[in-house]
Amino acid sequence: MKILLTGASGLLGSAFAQAAKRRKHEVVGLVGTYAEPVVGLGRQKSIDLNDLPELERFVLEQFPDAIVNCAAISIPGLCESNPESSERINVLVPEKLALLARHLFARYIHISTDQVFDGASAPYRIGDVPNPSSVYSTHKAQSEKRVLEMAAEFASIIRIPLLNGNSPRGNRSLHEHLFAAWSQGKKLDLFTDEYRQPCLADNLADAMVELCERNDLRGLLHWAGADSLSRFEIGKRILEHFGLPGKYITASTRGDHPAHAHRQENLSLDLQPLEGRLKTRPQSFTEQLESLIVPKPFRAWYHSI
Ligand SMILES: NC(=O)c1ccc[n+]([C@@H]2O[C@H](COP(=O)([O-])OP(=O)(O)OC[C@H]3O[C@@H](n4cnc5c(N)ncnc54)[C@H](OP(=O)(O)O)[C@@H]3O)[C@@H](O)[C@H]2O)c1
Repeated sequence: MKILLTGASGLLGSAFAQAAKRRKHEVVGLVGTYAEPVVGLGRQKSIDLNDLPELERFVLEQFPDAIVNCAAISIPGLCESNPESSERINVLVPEKLALLARHLFARYIHISTDQVFDGASAPYRIGDVPNPSSVYSTHKAQSEKRVLEMAAEFASIIRIPLLNGNSPRGNRSLHEHLFAAWSQGKKLDLFTDEYRQPCLADNLADAMVELCERNDLRGLLHWAGADSLSRFEIGKRILEHFGLPGKYITASTRGDHPAHAHRQENLSLDLQPLEGRLKTRPQSFTEQLESLIVPKPFRAWYHSI
């Protein structure tokens, strides 16, 4: 199958490129500013996705069997500071790709987020009503609607949690963010009353490849890891995995930090109907930890302590 992948240089996109290659698919990957080769791609092209006519031209020229959209402005703070840019990349690009998938009769996989929910009544099922509270989550919720409006019969939209993994730049995943702070001498307050259900990008990528190969699992779907853990527990387990001392994190609650009191308490996802219908299985947090390596930008710091 020929797959056109956007966001190929990101945490999830780069994992998808390798997963699809293992299944012998041909992947044409679009990147933005990333200049290194991405492992797993048959062809790599740099396009600014703000240029929708150029995106359309390239997709039609490639004529893929499936389109997988992993491009996003996925850092909520960047979306708050530049909502217009967030709307273009997080809403208009997914909508354009949905229209193109429909035109080409291609499978379309789009990625959304657990952040569309308010965190007050987990675990969330696919039919539960989103209640987004940030620019990022509002745009992701809008993207779900637009994709369903444009290409419901071709699209699978997967809401996913915080991602674990090893990103090409070494600065995008859960443990990479922690390393970035620790390497700058920061000790982190992590909440004992904020629950997330992390997932390894490679595991999600395997599930996405399966979805490309099937067309009976469409519409809104959820995927995550097997364990729901507090932020503090997540940080503690990551410290232990890398043999780092406990002094880098402190247990805290959202109530201790008025600026964070609005953060969603529990974003756990109910994985039906996907769980059990794919060969890929949700992984425990322990299984995910086994795949994590010391991020490249922080290796000198790690070996110096
Ligand atoms: N990471 C998480 O914990 C998490 C959690 C929930 C949902 N998600 C969702 O999962 C999906 C993948 O996220 P991710 O963490 O893999 O993202 P990421 O690592 O931040 O990667 C984003 C990708 O989008 C590309 N991109 C952004 N703006 C672009 C532009 N103007 N032109 C061309 N390419 C552009 C980037 O290209 P360059 O880097 O080459 O510029 C990069 O390949 C997103 O839909 C995100 O919202 C992520």
